[in-house]
Amino acid sequence: EYGWTGVNECTFIAVKPDGVQRKLVGEIVRRFERRGFKLVGLKLVRVSEDLLREHYWDLRSKPFFSGLLTYMSSGPIVAMVWQGLDVVKTARKMMGETNPADSLPGTIRGDFCVEVGRNVIHGSDSVESAQKEISLWFGHDELQCWGPSSSRWVY
Ligand code: TYD
Repeated sequence: EYGWTGVNECTFIAVKPDGVQRKLVGEIVRRFERRGFKLVGLKLVRVSEDLLREHYWDLRSKPFFSGLLTYMSSGPIVAMVWQGLDVVKTARKMMGETNPADSLPGTIRGDFCVEVGRNVIHGSDSVESAQKEISLWFGHDELQCWGPSSSRWVY
């Protein structure tokens, strides 16, 4: 089951439209793979403002909300689900802070961006929001359950 804590924990990660346009998809996927996480869902999507409004519902009263929806719907997004031990927390560490100016070099935001409104990547902030976001962005049939035991043909 997706979203459980432990080794089966999952998180929702999205390369935002600026990250896709700047060709950072491979770099970001590479970092998650090399850290040791398992890719269980991935698609390139252009999403409606309705879906984004639901995704960012907690921020609806913020002054930057409408600009955020415009930015997030301005181009395709790479939506992903990554699985592994403590993946929600570790992914947030790998991303850096919301404001790239506060993000240390070595983090994704600390290495690739400067502006809070163009911060390249999204990652769920808790196991609970990961569960909500995964079910909002992905259908069950779009997520793969796989591992060494079910792929004996892979060396
Ligand atoms: P938030 O959920 O607070 O941060 P995070 O993405 O790190 O979980 O905010 C969502 C997005 O809203 C954030 O990634 C960029 C945008 N945003 C702004 O444009 N201006 C702001 O002042 C803040 C706080 C966020």
